[in-house]
Amino acid sequence: MEQPSKTVFTRKRYDRLAFFYDFLEAPLERYRFAHWRSRLTDRIVGDRALEVGVGTGKNLPYYPRNVKITAIDFSRRMLEQARKRASVLGSMVQLQKMDVQQLAFPDNSFDTVFGTFVFCSVPDPVAGLKELKRVCKSNGRLLLLEHMRPGNVLLGLLFDVVNPMVVRMMGANINRRTMDNIKKAGWQILKEEQLSGDIVRWVEAKPL
Ligand SMILES: C[S@@+](CC[C@H](N)C(=O)[O-])C[C@H]1O[C@@H](n2cnc3c(N)ncnc32)[C@H](O)[C@@H]1O
Repeated sequence: MEQPSKTVFTRKRYDRLAFFYDFLEAPLERYRFAHWRSRLTDRIVGDRALEVGVGTGKNLPYYPRNVKITAIDFSRRMLEQARKRASVLGSMVQLQKMDVQQLAFPDNSFDTVFGTFVFCSVPDPVAGLKELKRVCKSNGRLLLLEHMRPGNVLLGLLFDVVNPMVVRMMGANINRRTMDNIKKAGWQILKEEQLSGDIVRWVEAKPL
């Protein structure tokens, strides 16, 4: 498990950003993310689903109505924004403060586990992805929308150089090898789609 100090640092970054977060992302949200979000939530299967790193609740408008969804985040202030959004939408989502690296749910609790733009900032992404595998049913699904380190050698190196500054400002890493992390945590990739070059990817996986 990653040092607790990194977890505290990242949580504080999101607490600090929460109030402005939707404003900062508004252009990208409008022209890119909104469409990608609905494509992901369309793939939710089963009766019970878990969203991790729910943030300000940007996926809430796209949740299927017939699925019981629990959503967690470790930032109290991001969750406050998500609660406001849930109330405006009349959403039945159960929001809880929790760290994806140490989930409080029993094994095999959910049919689908999902997240968008989360594993760039989880301090120990493999630990988080292992926890998702633990709480996911053996015939369940993992759905992720994530940005990651580009495969191009020069661009990858550039992302490595710029990464410490982005982490300091936003709490997110831009050079994570998330496909490798998903596999290391014991998931089998079923589908992978590149959405913005190879930087943003849509991934569907099942427990190995
Ligand atoms: C970049 S934001 C994305 C928010 C949202 N999923 C979206 O698509 O807009 C990352 C979110 O993950 C949360 N997060 C990061 N590490 C986490 C952890 N270890 N446990 C729970 N939430 C975490 C942050 O607090 C933040 O709300």
